[in-house]
Amino acid sequence: MKRKLRWIPDFSRTIQARLIIIYVLLILIAMQLIGVYFVSAMKNSLTSNFTQDLQERAQLLSVLAADKWSGSGENMSSSVNDLKLMVDNLYNMSGTQIQEIQVLDVSGRILISSLKTDSGSEARRNTQTVVSRALQGINDNEEYIIDDTGERKRVVAEPIISGNRTVGAVYIVASMAELFDTMKRINGIFLSGILIALGMTAVLGVILAHTITQPIKEMTKRAKQVAEGEFDHHMTVYSNDEIGQLSEAFNYMTSRLRDALAQNEEEKEKLASILKNMSDGVIATDDHGCIILVNRVAAAMLGNMESHLSGKELTSLLPLSEPDQLKLQNGTLRQIILNLGSSDEESGTVVRVTFSPVHRRKDSTGAGVIAVLQDVTEQEKLEAARREFVANVSHELRTPLTTIKSYTEALEDGALDERALAERFIGVIRNETQRMIRLVSDLLHLSRLDSSEATLRKQRTDVLELLEDTADRFYVQMKQKQIECRIDLEPGVGSVWIDRDQIDQVLDNLVSNALKYTMEGGSITLGAQSHIDKDMLAIRIEDTGIGIPRQDLDRIFERFYRVDKARSRNMGGTGLGLSIAQEIVFAHNGTIELDSELDQGTTVTVSLPLHEEGSVDA
Ligand SMILES: Nc1ncnc2c1ncn2[C@@H]1O[C@H](COP(=O)(O)OP(=O)(O)OP(=O)(O)O)[C@@H](O)[C@H]1O
Ligand SMILES: [Mg+2]
Repeated sequence: MKRKLRWIPDFSRTIQARLIIIYVLLILIAMQLIGVYFVSAMKNSLTSNFTQDLQERAQLLSVLAADKWSGSGENMSSSVNDLKLMVDNLYNMSGTQIQEIQVLDVSGRILISSLKTDSGSEARRNTQTVVSRALQGINDNEEYIIDDTGERKRVVAEPIISGNRTVGAVYIVASMAELFDTMKRINGIFLSGILIALGMTAVLGVILAHTITQPIKEMTKRAKQVAEGEFDHHMTVYSNDEIGQLSEAFNYMTSRLRDALAQNEEEKEKLASILKNMSDGVIATDDHGCIILVNRVAAAMLGNMESHLSGKELTSLLPLSEPDQLKLQNGTLRQIILNLGSSDEESGTVVRVTFSPVHRRKDSTGAGVIAVLQDVTEQEKLEAARREFVANVSHELRTPLTTIKSYTEALEDGALDERALAERFIGVIRNETQRMIRLVSDLLHLSRLDSSEATLRKQRTDVLELLEDTADRFYVQMKQKQIECRIDLEPGVGSVWIDRDQIDQVLDNLVSNALKYTMEGGSITLGAQSHIDKDMLAIRIEDTGIGIPRQDLDRIFERFYRVDKARSRNMGGTGLGLSIAQEIVFAHNGTIELDSELDQGTTVTVSLPLHEEGSVDA
């Protein structure tokens, strides 16, 4: 089954969409990776800076506190006040970041706190790990805590060392909210950067994909056009890259395809015109025996239109016998003579069909049959006529020969001794011999006329004289049969340009026929008149005889054709007279017609050209 091409796939499956998606994903992944590294590095850096800053402050405070610590007694309380002032100043300077600064004594008791609200806090102890570590003399203690409100804080504690002894600790709590805000802003900037980059990538992707897919789309369109037989459009080659090379290759392929198709078409037309103008019929079938090609002549022979025949089975169209059909299927039937069109032997078209199996180039199994049909109707008719002629001649000769043989035997057997009988027998033998001689000379005459050996020796002949001489030759016979002979000449008819001997023979045969087939007391008219156009002379031999039945009129000019064979033969007839007359008249470029009514009479009209062909005499 033919698969329909999908020219418009849905967008998600297009190369364009895929390219865009790939680009966007690439950018997204790249940005994500960069983002993760950048943001975490940023966060680390900011946090360590923050912590370091706090520690530095704590250290500064611890150094200052250590300084103050060295005093004692009253000095100690004034030092505490000084320290308190310093802590407050430091606290106020650091803005909102530092939430609380504490100065603790060695037991962890809060000596000074920056918190104003909680003035009694000095009495409390700070027991956090960082503080206890600092009180143990460990430097740089820090911790990350999240308080009850969820706020993220950093605490640092530094020991106050005075004279190699830890005398207290500085404790600072700072909120990291600002730091996280900064991180959040940076993240926001990064995200919007990613979005802008993605947007731009998508746009660039569309443009880039378009430059790649556009030529592909155009090529698809052209390929479709080529598939539909349009070879005139050429692909525009924009560049020399892979797509440009593909376009060039496509154009080259199109032109090669066009040439190949044109050549193919030409070959097809040649073949078609050869088939069309062939005088023989040609039928080609596929391996199932169905017609795939038939020419006009073959179609006409089968009595059908070419278009109606294709697809039909050859065996159903040819009147083949069952064994022949089998042979055709096996590929062993080579030649056969068939009568097409009609079951009637006479009117059907006789064809000689020659079958040749067609083999495929690759394998030797049969792939169909070519049948060549030759019209051999004429050939067959001629062959039949020849057979009939030989049969007729043999038959005509055998009858007198048999008679002669039997009479000769009778003479040998003793009839010779009886003179009267012997004379009668010899008379019969002589008659039969004469009949044979007449038959043979008639045949010789006909064959001379057939082979156009007999050249006409035309001469100007007076028509009246021609008719009178003919009548004179039959005067005695007519008189014996008491048949009246009339000559009916149209006034003005003068002479005609004919071969006198030959036309005499025609007239002799026609008058002898009229005489033979007219009863005693009848009449025969020899007439002549010129045709309306004055160029033809019509000679008419009319009798009042027995006539010829209508059904025999068509065949009356055939060789050996006689209406009543027995009667005619008795009268010495061979059935060749009329055909000889016809041949002679035809040789004169004339016509001969016979019209007859049973029991009424017969009229034979011989029309001859009055003048010699091409002559100007009147
Ligand atoms: N005038 C006629 N009247 C009746 N029948 C005729 C007439 N002319 C010809 N025929 C019929 O036509 C047949 C053919 O005539 P055709 O002249 O060819 O042969 P034929 O007279 O029998 O023999 P042939 O002329 O050779 O001696 C005759 O046998 C006869 O039956
Ligand atoms: Mg005759």
